Amino acid sequence: MSATLIDGKAVAEDVKKKVQENVTYLKTEYNITPGLATVLVGERPDSRVYVASKQKACADLGMNSYANTLPADISQSELLQVVQGLARDSNVHGILVQLPLPVHIDAETILGAIPIEKDVDGFSPLNVGRLSMKNREPMFVPCTPLGCIYLIESAGTKIEGANAVVLGRSNIVGLPMSFLLLHRNATITICHSRTRDLPSVTRDADILVAAIGKPKFVQADWVKPGATVIDVGINEIPDATKKSGKRLVGDVDFENVKEVAGAITPVPGGVGPMTIAMLMQNTLTAAQRAAGLIK
Ligand code: GUN
Repeated sequence: MSATLIDGKAVAEDVKKKVQENVTYLKTEYNITPGLATVLVGERPDSRVYVASKQKACADLGMNSYANTLPADISQSELLQVVQGLARDSNVHGILVQLPLPVHIDAETILGAIPIEKDVDGFSPLNVGRLSMKNREPMFVPCTPLGCIYLIESAGTKIEGANAVVLGRSNIVGLPMSFLLLHRNATITICHSRTRDLPSVTRDADILVAAIGKPKFVQADWVKPGATVIDVGINEIPDATKKSGKRLVGDVDFENVKEVAGAITPVPGGVGPMTIAMLMQNTLTAAQRAAGLIK
């Protein structure tokens, strides 16, 4: 059997279309244009690409974006001042500090300076704390895991009662993903570099989320037949058949795993587009809340 392909690009387009309609309504009825401030520190090529695509999405949907591109050697206090300025700016509804920050910067202090109502990435300590507690509502949830939940649901997979295995325990994906699944009443196992006999754990997963950054790591015989597999990995591998000499693959050995899984996300075209769509949705929500239109 070959798995159903979960088309993240199509689901993301649907989400963005609804966001765009709401942006138009906010503009015409209330003269408000949602605004996202991006903060990029340093020259990491991957971060530059991610931030550029977030800015492009803003433009496509009729939102404003305010780019703050800062040198890698900026001091902690200078960076803090930039974020504090954005926090005061009423045209800025959402603030996105691209991670990782250079090692001399204390990320928690910087993220803590983002007011929770502008924390469209869901990374400020207060939002993270709320997400990790029972019966608390964060103002925003991190975009990549939220996009994964959308994709799992769009595949028709029932989360409640499912065995969900998350590979990776990062602050950006693995940990928030685990909480989102737990709050939806899945039974969670979080795996990491020191998990013993990983295949025996993953074989029990009805839902398997891979977010470890290792190309084609998850093998077909690690996957339970019929499982829903969400591949968060974006890894470059050499490919002599491509003009660029490389191509993108996920953390899952897609070609073989798709023969076993029930549903699977491709790379590219799976989780990636959803991250941006969720960020646009969160920025719209921030603007609607600032205008007192929603809670
Ligand atoms: N670095 C990798 N993924 C993300 C993300 O979703 N948001 C931010 N701010 N930084 C990231």
